[in-house]
Amino acid sequence: MQTVHDAGALRAVVRGWRAAGQTVGFVPTMGNLHAGHFSLVRLARARADRVVASVFVNPTQFGPNEDFSRYPRTLAQDQAGLAEHDCDLLFAPDVATLYPYGAEHTVRLSVPQITETLEGAHRPGHFDGVATVVCKLFNLVQADLAVFGQKDFQQLKVIERMVRDLALPVKVIAAPTQRAADGLALSSRNQYLSEAERALAPRIHQVLVQMRDMLGKGHAPKVLEQAAAGQLERAGFVPDYVAIRRADDLSEPVAGERTGLVGLVAARLGSTRLIDNLLFDGT
Ligand code: PAJ
Repeated sequence: MQTVHDAGALRAVVRGWRAAGQTVGFVPTMGNLHAGHFSLVRLARARADRVVASVFVNPTQFGPNEDFSRYPRTLAQDQAGLAEHDCDLLFAPDVATLYPYGAEHTVRLSVPQITETLEGAHRPGHFDGVATVVCKLFNLVQADLAVFGQKDFQQLKVIERMVRDLALPVKVIAAPTQRAADGLALSSRNQYLSEAERALAPRIHQVLVQMRDMLGKGHAPKVLEQAAAGQLERAGFVPDYVAIRRADDLSEPVAGERTGLVGLVAARLGSTRLIDNLLFDGT
């Protein structure tokens, strides 16, 4: 697998593939790769002739008090893992490549509505940063398809809307969430957890499963949300939100609505913020 750091080298390789009639799949990441990321590479591999992954810790999607500076940067390890998973090309740009005018002065994209709730409400500006960098990466890579994990469900929806609204010539593919054996969704942030916190963390998945099952038995979403938040609090979490929403636009379901819903949780455990979700239709 080849690694390139600048836009010219990236374009040259991709242009060669395109000239040979090959399709290109793209997996954008912030690195510190784990089995969740590699499942996306596998999916891209199955759907396209060539696979490009990117590793870029994007400054514009972190808030001032978030973990940008301590976000784990493990490029050599990521390169080895990507090569093992048959990735063809790694694009690992520096900040100046993606933000030629500086991150402060960049053109910023803003996807309305769907970004105003849940993660967007708790992390102001986060999805502007995500949309901005993903659009730039799409322009640089020129892929036919791009794979995003359902683990970041709202992010996936934001990207889908951006692509449709801006008519970007790329197909967005959703990949299922990869979990540890005890149900905890794999995440680069899991390594911040102490041993005791790691033992508690699967509770998030457990309350999501419980909400799904109780909803199936006819319980009201609002009651279930409150009960699940209470359970998490008693276990030692500080929940940001526990929500049951419509999966297509993350709006609130009306009374009696039971199909096409998703449960979403964000909760802090010590200094680590964890997010997870579960589609309630068995998808
Ligand atoms: P990052 O957190 O590195 O995640 C990269 C991709 O891996 C995302 O699409 C995410 O949903 C997916 N992913 C993470 N954990 C997963 C898991 N357990 N199962 C399946 N997929 C998983 O998300 C970002 O980076 C950034 O916001 C980015 C899109 C790269 C823009 O900077």
